[in-house]
Amino acid sequence: MSSTAWFTHDRFGMFVHWGLYSLAARHEWVQNREKLTDEQYRVYFDHFEPDKYDPRSWARAAKAAGMTYVVLTTKHHDGFCLWDSDLTDFKVTNTPYGKDLLGPFVDACREEGLKVGFYHSLIDWHHPAFPVDGTHPRRDDAEYIAAHQYADIAEYQLYLHGQVRELLTRFGTIDYLFFDFSYKGRKEWWGGKGPDDWDSPGLLALVRELQPGILVNDRTGIPGDFITPEQYQPSGPMTRDGVPVVWEACQTLNGSWGYDRDNLDYKSPELLIRMLVDGVSKDGNLLLNVGPNGRGEIDPRAHEVLAEIGRWMDRHERSIRGCGPSEFTAPADGRYTQRGDRLYLHLFSWPMNHVHLPGLAGRVRYAQLLDDASEIRQVHTDPGQTAQNTQMGGQPEGTLTLKLPIRKPDTPVPVIELFLSTESPAAETRPTD
Ligand code: GLC
Repeated sequence: MSSTAWFTHDRFGMFVHWGLYSLAARHEWVQNREKLTDEQYRVYFDHFEPDKYDPRSWARAAKAAGMTYVVLTTKHHDGFCLWDSDLTDFKVTNTPYGKDLLGPFVDACREEGLKVGFYHSLIDWHHPAFPVDGTHPRRDDAEYIAAHQYADIAEYQLYLHGQVRELLTRFGTIDYLFFDFSYKGRKEWWGGKGPDDWDSPGLLALVRELQPGILVNDRTGIPGDFITPEQYQPSGPMTRDGVPVVWEACQTLNGSWGYDRDNLDYKSPELLIRMLVDGVSKDGNLLLNVGPNGRGEIDPRAHEVLAEIGRWMDRHERSIRGCGPSEFTAPADGRYTQRGDRLYLHLFSWPMNHVHLPGLAGRVRYAQLLDDASEIRQVHTDPGQTAQNTQMGGQPEGTLTLKLPIRKPDTPVPVIELFLSTESPAAETRPTD
């Protein structure tokens, strides 16, 4: 197994979905959804000319948002390749753009000090040897299916493995690989495809041989280095057969992975920050997607969201990077992350005056608002105390109460940094009110 140390330390990466579908600008599954023939889809190939492609600006946007790795689609389900593959004509070098896109992307990430990731689709709607199934754009076209009835998955396997070899030998060190996806047993997709179809054991062996340090996901249908919940937040640390696993949630800005012009269903920066925090509090990463447009630009809406996340990360990186879950139980609407003796309380809603933290009485030697390093004082309440008039009720034994400012700090998710005492409880208690 490769070392996942950098991955679980860094916590936050950028996903980039970019390809011919970016021109259609209505979801990366457009060919499937609209059942487009190769000829109909070809119009995007013939007009692919991203004159504003500047991977340095992508890498800088990722870095400014606090991300440390970027994962780009080398080929999506439509089969279009962003590099000069020897194994197909359906590639960027044959479009009006005429140049490789992957090399400059890899260089830009490296120059900005970011780790490099590739997404590669196992599914391929363009390759003639890929047997038609329920995901395929031509699934209702009897004539097409008849003409492809001898499609041989073994031949497609050679193509898949051959392209992965190209990707992992031509661009230097690749840190991360996201295969997408297996769907064996899915009735609506005609029984689907899985490890036998891709020869997943052989594929993973090839990947490990060519790039021994790489991290690979689990979507070949056999275990990899991490698992990939998509478009939902797990309700706790993730496990497989009762064993904790490394995981990374992949999330969109607006529900679509590819550029989707008329889709305004944007998550707020605050929600996205909460998702990042929530994931780290459950020992997970966040891979947040952008879908650059047909000219190769990250659009202004996405830029704004990233910039806002970046402003928060700039001030609160300490509560994310190198952090994981805590054994303490966070209060309602709060999330804890922890790194050694630093416990970070993220408040998703701002309470009035006080917050009560179970189990922390006598365990905190200092507390401050991370935003401006202003002290947050501890309040002593007697557990037996009855609430009346101006006297608040006592809290259960062992609870630490903090006194908060009335005004929520001007940041989407305020964080209180708690310096845990390594001494025995009680000795360090310092009631200040
Ligand atoms: C899905 C979709 C796809 C997207 C991916 C990202 O499997 O098929 O369009 O690329 O998830 O995780």
